[in-house]
Amino acid sequence: MHCRLRMKTTYGHFQEDGADFTITNPQTPRAFDNFLWNESVFSNVQQTGVGYCDYQVEGKEGVQLFTGVGRICDFDVFGRDHLMSRLIYVRDNATGEFWNINWEPVRRAYTSYACTHGPGHTTIRTEVEGIVAEFRIFVPSGHDPVELWSIRLQNTSGRERSLSLFAYNQFQFKYKWGFDSYGDMIFRGVWMNRPLNAVVASKHPFRKPHDHLIGFMTSDREIVAFDGSRDAFVGPYNSLADPRAVVAGHCTNTAGSSEATIGAAQFDISLATDGETAFSLIIGATDEEEKIGALRDRYLGKVEAWFQALLDEKKALKKRNRVRTPDQHFDRMVNTWVKQAALFGSTWCRWGWNGYRDIVQHGLGVVAIQPERTREILLTALQYQCQSGLALRGWNPVDEKAYSDSALWLVFTLVAYLKETGDMALLDESVPFYDRGTASVLGHIERALDFLESNKGAHDLCLIKFGDWNDSLTGVGKEGRGESVWLSQACAEALRQMAELMHHLDRTAREIEYEARRARLLQAINTQAWDGDWYTRCFDDNGKPLGSHRNEFARIFMETQSWALISGAASEERAERLIESCDDILGTPVGYLLLAPSYKQEDPSIGRISSLEPGICENGTVYSHLNIWMILGLLRYGMGDKAYEVFKKITPGYVDGDMALKQKCPPYMYANCYFGPEHRNNSFQMEFTWITGSVAWFNTVPAQEMLGVRPDYQGLVIDPCLPSAWENCEVERTFRGAIYHIEIFNPHQLQRGMVSLTLDGRAIEGNRLPLPKAGSHHHVTATLLPAESPEKAGIAQLVEAGI
Ligand code: GLC
Repeated sequence: MHCRLRMKTTYGHFQEDGADFTITNPQTPRAFDNFLWNESVFSNVQQTGVGYCDYQVEGKEGVQLFTGVGRICDFDVFGRDHLMSRLIYVRDNATGEFWNINWEPVRRAYTSYACTHGPGHTTIRTEVEGIVAEFRIFVPSGHDPVELWSIRLQNTSGRERSLSLFAYNQFQFKYKWGFDSYGDMIFRGVWMNRPLNAVVASKHPFRKPHDHLIGFMTSDREIVAFDGSRDAFVGPYNSLADPRAVVAGHCTNTAGSSEATIGAAQFDISLATDGETAFSLIIGATDEEEKIGALRDRYLGKVEAWFQALLDEKKALKKRNRVRTPDQHFDRMVNTWVKQAALFGSTWCRWGWNGYRDIVQHGLGVVAIQPERTREILLTALQYQCQSGLALRGWNPVDEKAYSDSALWLVFTLVAYLKETGDMALLDESVPFYDRGTASVLGHIERALDFLESNKGAHDLCLIKFGDWNDSLTGVGKEGRGESVWLSQACAEALRQMAELMHHLDRTAREIEYEARRARLLQAINTQAWDGDWYTRCFDDNGKPLGSHRNEFARIFMETQSWALISGAASEERAERLIESCDDILGTPVGYLLLAPSYKQEDPSIGRISSLEPGICENGTVYSHLNIWMILGLLRYGMGDKAYEVFKKITPGYVDGDMALKQKCPPYMYANCYFGPEHRNNSFQMEFTWITGSVAWFNTVPAQEMLGVRPDYQGLVIDPCLPSAWENCEVERTFRGAIYHIEIFNPHQLQRGMVSLTLDGRAIEGNRLPLPKAGSHHHVTATLLPAESPEKAGIAQLVEAGI
């Protein structure tokens, strides 16, 4: 069963041999975007190259360097015309005709158009009027806030051509998403630095130290003319679709001052019949104009080498923990795109849109590919936990609302990190609390759990306070008595993981204590929160349940169904029943809804969620996070087929036909959610690609729980729970410095079975490979056998005989 993806949409296709996606029609229904980044800068690049580039150098606040439209329609209230940036115009000087290599904003008819998004790079290739043009954008690895552009032109017209090229950027210098007022503009200037061949734009040019408010555009080809004034380049009554300078064929060499700061650079190019030319540009930020010279030296003339280094890095990333299954799309998502999204999340969660729980989950997401980042995130997050055990809602900006789940996420990330790395020394590191005092890492975690233990309500469940994972349940516990069933389930799972850690550390008293706490919580959940066909979501300050048959709206929430499975709270019978309820009430063709039916009346005892439009955000969308959690829960109950079914619904790229048209999402990237069926006009349309905490789980669950290759304190556990149709799969896993090539065989078409293991040709008892020697390479076979298998008995005999 080789699932070769049918995903040849009207907009593009995946490359045969990899994960790169090529868009052949730039008029996608919404932005099909890519993110490119390094430690200082991140760039959003849409299918026409436009987008934004934001930077935040160490220790500084984040700044938008230049910006185009963030997304089509999501936040950009001014529409697509608003502040286009990253534009390349080509003008044929013989005829005066002009177009954009990246199609918009001129939108000239093209002979061909292909925008390829790959991990870390985007290349647009177009053919217009016998000129084949390529525009490649990438961000080099490291700490320089720069984007590198390469432009290549080829004359296929059979006649000599005289062309002018105009590269155009809108420079912004906004702190975060600050407001661009007149007051903001009067501090701006743009000029040409001839010796450096750079258009330089700055806000507060005279302020020292300068704080990286200089943007620039420089090239290895001579900039023959420039414009720094938008009015001069575009003209007061023209638009970016027919800028006056491009119409006329030359920039005006007008510096910019106290106005919309742009950088336009003109290049003149003569192409012989069949001639070709190529050159590069650096777009970047700096704190001192003179430093542009050093950046030129570092990159210009070496752009291909930098690009090759990036490709090598991405190739290594793809190879690290690579899976091979009968489903090609599963592989490309797991091996490439989900890793990209998880790395982007973990690198840029500091930017400010993410809160505590999101950041800590991003740490979890990269544990198998960049554990040092996980460590760094943990040590930072711990500093924003208070003595009481409670942590902030967010620290960038500081948000002290008492969301009672914040600190709990530390457990999942810490445990995953310890199992992956064996770095037990982390537990003893001393970290200050946000308010006062200091404790070891383990001490912090104990506080987090003690806080939840000592903050329970009338049903013996954890108090929700201002809220929990569901950010919008802000009214339920505002008087301090509301309780969260979800938080209680998550806490039970955290206690299980901590009891296991205590066992490993030989701290028996703590282990027993955590197990006892877990048992009490599970009992409270099962006696107080089972609603007959599913688990309720919470109890408000007056003890009234939410997510119950008794409610008019939001009778069932997905959070408590998925976590009833993850935490093991549900008996087999209840698990079966709640899954049926989810299928019946929350099931859609693209995954499960967060809740149903959506709220349609504001209710202060519930909070913000009840005032959201139906079918958006928490109020009844198909939330990616909940679907990957459901997948995890189903896998824990041995339901590989069902988990795979959910995976194929929620993952972009599987759904075809009308539904794909409704989804309007790039088939290579998860979105935060899809609008629900109750949305007023766009049911099932995606909302926010890339920016979703769910990618942390998409980057762990398929490989670790479905293919079942899972780090443990004592070794690598092999415990697959597969779609029964998958007869064999492979995983290449780096673990504690060793590399394992693991072949999984499923000859009996099971979902889960007894695992029969061989390590380098020798049979192994149980399903755990022992801790390896760093640097070693191993070959492993894992065969799934029915529970009472004679083959397994045979293997046991071989083990006994030491074969
Ligand atoms: C948003 C928030 C996240 C929250 C989720 C559900 O994605 O960033 O913290 O858990 O919504 O409310």
